[in-house]
Amino acid sequence: MDLQLFCFPGNEAFEKRLLQYDGIYSGKMTIRRFPDGESYVRLCSDVTHKDLAVLLSLHQPDEKILSLYYFAKLARQFGAKSITFIAPYLAYMRQDQAFKPGEVVTSGLFAQLLSDWVDAILTFDPHLHRIRDLSEIYSIPTLAIPAEPLISDYIKSFINKPVLIGPDEESRQWVERIARQVGCDFMVLQKERLGDHSVRVTLPGIATIQDRTPVLVDDIISTGRTMIETAAHFQEQGFPAPVCIGVHGIFAGNAYRELKDAGIETIVTTNTIPHPSNGIDVSGLVPGALRQLPY
Ligand code: R5P
Repeated sequence: MDLQLFCFPGNEAFEKRLLQYDGIYSGKMTIRRFPDGESYVRLCSDVTHKDLAVLLSLHQPDEKILSLYYFAKLARQFGAKSITFIAPYLAYMRQDQAFKPGEVVTSGLFAQLLSDWVDAILTFDPHLHRIRDLSEIYSIPTLAIPAEPLISDYIKSFINKPVLIGPDEESRQWVERIARQVGCDFMVLQKERLGDHSVRVTLPGIATIQDRTPVLVDDIISTGRTMIETAAHFQEQGFPAPVCIGVHGIFAGNAYRELKDAGIETIVTTNTIPHPSNGIDVSGLVPGALRQLPY
């Protein structure tokens, strides 16, 4: 593996970790905005006949996607051999069907877009629900790296008598596998989304797990409402303080503050999206995954 890594602004901490590995070396570029908001991209390293990787986590994707397009076009123009897109968080996976008549289904359209620009995509735990595998919508090689071994290690190291709680059916896949690795019980709740900022979570009986620490695990924390509503049930019933773990901490708007204000003291995320809650470093899984790509 010999990959020249280009890093978009905001991803430098992850980049620094990746550059520690043999076969990954730094490529230089400038990304900025003109005063009128238009995007500017300049390649400052020679990319001719080289295999490139571009690192960009896609939270707030609409602000970034055009620069990625310009980067990919520019790299091709200067003769790059291949472009692997490392998107620790991959956006536009949740609108995977039309929930109301007339709605756009963005997941497939976004996948087509990226498939035209880059040669392969590597990401962590994409939100696979009705779409079971990225290959259903991406026409290029994709690799979805599970963060769960590292989440399991975290729980085993830091949480006393855990019981894993999945707030909705979509979280079952993570919760079930992590619980197996930790060797603890788990429970999957039912969630109804009432709007962008409103969910209703219902619990089955919880008498059997009364003395354990509820560890709420979800792939994405966005508005935080799912975690807040779920935690509230356990807080009301006198459980030990719940711990919230998210693979991708988007924390839209004031979500992080609101979670804290709701009395959730421990919120831990992986570093797929840079945030003060990052407590689980997943970057070490990237080099091995890169070696699985077909070039
Ligand atoms: C959706 O199904 C995901 O798995 C998460 O449960 C969801 O994205 C959390 O969103 P929020 O933080 O806005 O409740």
